Amino acid sequence: MKKVILDVDTGIDDAIAIILALGCNDINVLGITTVSGNIHVDRATLNTKRLLKFLNREDINVYKGLSKPIKRELVDASHIHGKSGLAGQLEDIEVDEYVDDDALKFIEEQILLNPNEITIIATGPQTNIARLLEMKPKLAKMIKSMMVMGGAISVKGNCTPVAEFNISTDPEAVFEVIHAGIEDYTLVSLDVTQKALLKKEDLTLIKNDSIRNFIDDLTKNYMDRYYKIHGRYACPMHDPLVILQFIDNDILTLEKQYVTVETNSEYSDGMTICDFDNHWDKKPNVKITTDIDEKLFKDKFFEIINQVKI
Ligand code: RIB
Ligand code: CA
Repeated sequence: MKKVILDVDTGIDDAIAIILALGCNDINVLGITTVSGNIHVDRATLNTKRLLKFLNREDINVYKGLSKPIKRELVDASHIHGKSGLAGQLEDIEVDEYVDDDALKFIEEQILLNPNEITIIATGPQTNIARLLEMKPKLAKMIKSMMVMGGAISVKGNCTPVAEFNISTDPEAVFEVIHAGIEDYTLVSLDVTQKALLKKEDLTLIKNDSIRNFIDDLTKNYMDRYYKIHGRYACPMHDPLVILQFIDNDILTLEKQYVTVETNSEYSDGMTICDFDNHWDKKPNVKITTDIDEKLFKDKFFEIINQVKI
C-alpha cells in the first residue's frame, strides 16, 4: 500500500480526486489536510468531512490547515465552485462539529513516523507544505515524493493570462516548496489536465447510482460553464488526474526540468517558468507533464471510480 497524505481545497474536482484515492486498493490515505483555495479552509474542511460521510469513510481523519496564503490575501474560486465550494452538494449531511485544526502537526508527525514512505498529493495551493518546510526544512528530504496539481508550462493560465489558479493563489508558497530540496516533485499542469475531460455522456459509465448522481449534480454548472466556452458538455479533471497518475504512471509523459515561479511581477505573478534550454544552468528540480494518454486516463478513471462501494 502506497502511503499518501491528500492536501486539498475541496472544491468540485478535489472531491472527485478524493473519491478516486479512496477507491484505489493500493493507496493508504493516512489523512486529509485542508487549505484555503477554491473556498475558505473552514468550508473546504466541512466539504471534505461531508464527502467522507457520504462515502462511508469517516475512518479517514481530516485536519484543517491554513486559512490564507503565506504573503497574500486569499482570492478564492467560489465563482467556479459555488459559494459552498461543492456546487451546493452534500449540504444536508450532518458531520461532527469537532475539527482538528493542526494540519501541519499531522503532516510532520506522519513524515517522522514514515520517513521516505509518504507521497503528499496537493490539489490546492501549497500554503500548508510551504509553512511546514519553513519551520522544519529537514522534512523536505524525508518526503518520498510530492505530486501537485498546478502550473501552466507551455499553455496559457486559467487564473491570469500566464498563471494557473493553485499557483497564482499562493506563488510564494510554491516557490519555497519547489526549491526546498524535495527529491521527487511532479507538477501536473494545465498542459495535460485541460485534456483530461469528464464528458457528460460518459457519466453513464459510473455504475454506482449514488456516485453517478452525485458527480452529475456536482459537475452540472462546471459543465455548463465549459459548454459556453467550448460548445460541449464536459469538464477538466485537474485534480483527479494527479491521483490517476499516482496510480498508473503511464498516463502522463514526464520530463525533469528546472522550474521556478514568478512572485514579484505586476503582470506575471504565479507564472511557472521552465528552463527547457538550460539558460540558467540550474539542476532540474521538477518533473513536468508534457503529454497525456487520454484513453488510458478515461479507462483508469472509470475503472477506479467503479471500485468505490457506498
Ligand atoms: O486550476 C485548477 C485547480 O484550481 C484545481 O485544483 C481546482 O480544484 C482549483 O483548485
Ligand atoms: Ca483543487
